[in-house]
Amino acid sequence: MTNDGVAAVMEKTLLAIADANVDIVPMLFTRFLAAYPEQRTAFTNLEAAQGRMTNETVEALLGLATREYWVPVTITNFVDLHRNYGKIPLEQYAAFVNMLVDTLAEAAGRAWTEAQDHAWKSQAKRLNGMIAEACAGKTPAMYN
Ligand code: HEM
Repeated sequence: MTNDGVAAVMEKTLLAIADANVDIVPMLFTRFLAAYPEQRTAFTNLEAAQGRMTNETVEALLGLATREYWVPVTITNFVDLHRNYGKIPLEQYAAFVNMLVDTLAEAAGRAWTEAQDHAWKSQAKRLNGMIAEACAGKTPAMYN
């Protein structure tokens, strides 16, 4: 599938969720903080941060699908920003990204297809690889 084709499949998920009028932000954060309750105190303004964290992750995944030039630097920036919030283990970044995909699947319900599953999971894998590089102090290369 072309890059644009992958992004179009991913956009179908977002449209289905918008049509169903489901807010994925609280769903994702309930999941994330149930898995890592010790992180609750790292958030001074969870209400404000949760929407931005969710949006930025969705944008990075869509940007990766179409290989936007700004993705590597955006990843470097948010990983650097997060150094202010204590030591976030790499495993928690990966869990957050993967939980976002699980949340999208749950929110899309019957609209979720094999193609969407593959599209979101393949971009999540690339994003997690790039986050690992940024956490190691490198500017990530655009992952294949
Ligand atoms: C792909 C993964 C992630 C992205 C794109 C992301 C993005 C963001 C963004 C955009 C903000 C808001 C900054 C602001 O405007 O003030 C933020 C805040 C924050 N993020 Fe993340 N984040 C990610 C993963 C994580 C993980 C795994 C943790 C683990 C605890 C985390 C903890 C925090 C904390 C503690 C704040 C500050 C919130 C506050 O001051 O209330 N983030 N994140």
